[in-house]
Amino acid sequence: MSTVIKVENLSKRYYLSHQQKENFPTLRDAITRTASNLGRRLLHPLRASSGQPLEGLDSTEEFWALDDVSFEVKQGDRVGIIGRNGAGKSTLLKILSRITEPTKGRVSIKGRVASLLEVGTGFHPELTGRENIFLNGAILGMTRVEIKRKFDEIVDFAEIEKFLDTPVKRYSSGMYVRLAFAVAAHLEPEILIVDEVLAVGDAQFQKKCLGKMEEVGKEGRTVLFVSHNLSAVRRLCARSLWIDRGQVSFLGDTEKTIQSYLSSSIPMKEGIVKFKEQQDKPAYISSVELLDEGNNAQSSFLVNQLVKVKVTFVANRRFTLWRVYVDLKNPDGTIIFSTTTQDNRDVCPIERGIYSASLIIPSQLLLEGPYLLSVAFGEPPTKRHDYHENAIVLNLCGTSFVFDRKIGFLSFPFEWELEDELDDKERC
Ligand SMILES: Nc1ncnc2c1ncn2[C@@H]1O[C@H](COP(=O)(O)OP(=O)(O)O)[C@@H](O)[C@H]1O
Ligand SMILES: [Mg+2]
Repeated sequence: MSTVIKVENLSKRYYLSHQQKENFPTLRDAITRTASNLGRRLLHPLRASSGQPLEGLDSTEEFWALDDVSFEVKQGDRVGIIGRNGAGKSTLLKILSRITEPTKGRVSIKGRVASLLEVGTGFHPELTGRENIFLNGAILGMTRVEIKRKFDEIVDFAEIEKFLDTPVKRYSSGMYVRLAFAVAAHLEPEILIVDEVLAVGDAQFQKKCLGKMEEVGKEGRTVLFVSHNLSAVRRLCARSLWIDRGQVSFLGDTEKTIQSYLSSSIPMKEGIVKFKEQQDKPAYISSVELLDEGNNAQSSFLVNQLVKVKVTFVANRRFTLWRVYVDLKNPDGTIIFSTTTQDNRDVCPIERGIYSASLIIPSQLLLEGPYLLSVAFGEPPTKRHDYHENAIVLNLCGTSFVFDRKIGFLSFPFEWELEDELDDKERC
């Protein structure tokens, strides 16, 4: 397959005098920015918010949102882009969509690009929905006839029929995103770029969009998809790019990319996480380990291996009632199960000491993928003495063939019965 996007040594510099900021500025960012703007206003009263580099200010005022980024995308690839807030994902998509210029480096793109960036780009606010559909089609180089052919599909998909002749500035953000997505996905771009705006829509619409993107990808078009919803990225994209602080941290198979992204945010080595001593508490968890059947600690397992989650805790006094709690989530935060030491036995009282409780997750229970385990130690009915959310990442790797690939959460080998309805005998 031919390369359709080639990004070479791409860098983007912003100056901190910029006042607009997207996504979710942290309080610290806001304070730093306000302070630096204030300083600047005092120094340069007329140029305070020009957004340009200011003479006489030191170089720490500049900020590289992208720093030497290189990668290639082949035709028909569906590539996920993941990373923390502020990592540079939207900046990258804006450069690829030619909304903003790179400071250094090169981008070559073969084919028509349609992008769905954050609300506020792409549509003309004074024009109606109908007019914007035609405008966007024209920008993509389509003829009026071609656009007309797609028009009804777009309106249907976006569910905005009643508002077609209303200027889009009166749309709610949900309606706006629905129309913007419908336009971008239906106007047959060769490359479809989608930023995490989908988060605005409701769950049902998000599902519909993911389905549409899948379809677009199957038609051989190229899709770039930024999302915090790691399950959606897994479903849609075979390859993913992890951007961290403006740089490419990992590019490859989506599972591996997600795995390294998740592991990086959690201090973990070889399937064990240790926590600091808390002698002031009645009890605390000192470590969590992931062990295989032979008690070897590791962080990746095959779906058909059992996994022991060993939680070691220190009791600083006697407990008559106590529980260790474990819950397991998928990367987007959905809890797949939760369990406590009380599930299959009455725990006996414990004296002051160090103990461990091991949860056994049976083989073939869960589907492949990364999971997050949270652990807690509590004293019923109400006291939770220690809690570590997302304490450790468990990676389950698949063994199935592509055509046997399951979706959902469970890998459980369900029983099937096969009968020959004509012969009334059991087969196979
Ligand atoms: N127009 C701008 N002016 C100044 N800084 C910006 C601008 N746009 C983005 N940034 C900064 O660049 C960094 C990367 O932003 P962005 O690409 O939006 O990250 P992401 O989409 O990964 O959350 C952030 O620190 C952000 O504050
Ligand atoms: Mg963003």
